[in-house]
Amino acid sequence: MSDPGGQQDDGVAGGFRIQPGRLLLEICSLTERLDLAECFPRRQPVELELGSGDGSFLCDLAARHPERNFVGVERLNGRLRKLDRKGQRLGLSNLRGVRIEAAYFLQYLVFPATLAAIHVYFPDPWPKIRHRARRLINEAFTGHAAQALAVGGVLHVRTDSADYFAQMRAVFAASPHFTPVDTPPELASLPTDFEREFNARGLPTLRAAFRRVALILPPDPHNYRASVAGDK
Ligand SMILES: C[S@@+](CC[C@H](N)C(=O)[O-])C[C@H]1O[C@@H](n2cnc3c(N)ncnc32)[C@H](O)[C@@H]1O
Repeated sequence: MSDPGGQQDDGVAGGFRIQPGRLLLEICSLTERLDLAECFPRRQPVELELGSGDGSFLCDLAARHPERNFVGVERLNGRLRKLDRKGQRLGLSNLRGVRIEAAYFLQYLVFPATLAAIHVYFPDPWPKIRHRARRLINEAFTGHAAQALAVGGVLHVRTDSADYFAQMRAVFAASPHFTPVDTPPELASLPTDFEREFNARGLPTLRAAFRRVALILPPDPHNYRASVAGDK
């Protein structure tokens, strides 16, 4: 049976199954990495949203960019079903949703250096000091994002929490894998579901973006073979 995007319901070899007639992925193994590009009818750059909520942002972005593929990662079934319904209503073949814990997915299931972008919008702020360790974006996260993004890929964040925003900027500033960049105006003009609520209540929100850069390592004077090979 085909899904609305024309993808066959037989992606088991790629480590996933597509629910018949839907946009939702079922992961077959929690230890094998997924070829996300295989989840779509067309092989094209893949962008991930972690904590995609009702999927309205990702549906808007996917409708504007048929030349890219988008995956929403969300732990709540009800919210994923909304992404599924909206995406189907819009006839999107470049959108998928998956129910799984976001940090695990990024660290263990995404192939290294494969993503064109990661979007993290209004992640749970965990404002109490004793809960801060639960925040998605921390020092470890920058390493996992650097692993998953292709060089040149961009991680986009938004939050309503000034304290969390300071933490996000600090951990990305400390990572040698990222450099800050501007949020493209087109992306900035697309609000998420939570952002619409904050805007309606007149509450300020914050955004930032960080580009994955290649690490340039100085030559290792102790690596005799490499330096001899380089002399030839
Ligand atoms: C505050 S909402 C923001 C939703 C959406 N990004 C927006 O801006 O409208 C956070 C979302 O992340 C999801 N979420 C929180 N922690 C998660 C995790 N560890 N793994 C996957 N999803 C998570 C929640 O279920 C919720 O839908």
